[in-house]
Amino acid sequence: MQTARDAGRILAERIGRSLEISNKGDIDLVTESDLASERLIIERIKSHYPRHAILAEESGETAVSDTHNEWKWIIDPLDGTTNYAHGYPCFCVSIGVERAKRIELGVVYDPMRDEMFAAERGGGATLNERRIRVSRVEDLNQAMLCTGFPYDVRDRPHFAHHFSNFTMKAQAVRRDGSAALDLAYVAAGRFDGFWEDGLSPWDIAAGALLVEEAGGRVTDFNGNPLDIYTPRVLVSNGAIHDSMIRVLRG
Ligand code: IPD
Ligand code: CA
Ligand code: CA
Repeated sequence: MQTARDAGRILAERIGRSLEISNKGDIDLVTESDLASERLIIERIKSHYPRHAILAEESGETAVSDTHNEWKWIIDPLDGTTNYAHGYPCFCVSIGVERAKRIELGVVYDPMRDEMFAAERGGGATLNERRIRVSRVEDLNQAMLCTGFPYDVRDRPHFAHHFSNFTMKAQAVRRDGSAALDLAYVAAGRFDGFWEDGLSPWDIAAGALLVEEAGGRVTDFNGNPLDIYTPRVLVSNGAIHDSMIRVLRG
């Protein structure tokens, strides 16, 4: 949590300044803040846990000398880069800790609102140290959903089909631009459900545990248990999950 907070401070201090921005793809950006945040997080982890593996969005996966080591830190140093680059204050730091292929800990920190979402497997989920739970909404018609458009959206035309179908069935659909924060908001009951095709493990690792520990359901688009290394993610408060699967199939 302290590391996420310190990394978040770096992001908040620099937002709105003229930043060095490069393109990773057609519409996929990386700013100097992504890199500074990631550097801080990796240095901090290495100083405490030199033998743990690290999977970080901007630097990839580090090999570990100890092959029996089962711990892996999965880091998105700035989730919501496009928002950030435009000065739109919706972004976060996401850090998940995996052990033997299972996420055990996760934090998502929003430095603009000073909101720290945290979860430990079996220990529940919290927002600024107060327990959070998913919403109780049972009907899609009363649900506020969120989604995201991946950077290769131009190669995934079915996203528009899902978007329009949910828009017709739900009370409201939002597109906030930070998948990790979207997942944290489902955990906190602010959104009732979220789906996206095209996510990476660093977008999902911490947020998926938050939703699970807040009592929600976390699957792929068919309702199978989520593998964070696959791109299709559906999370909800549980009650509207099957209705959401039906819409995704429709
Ligand atoms: C992106 C955001 C966005 C989602 C994209 C992600 P980034 O992450 O989470 O909401 O729609 O699929 O890649 O690049 O800002 O870390
Ligand atoms: Ca991301
Ligand atoms: Ca990122």
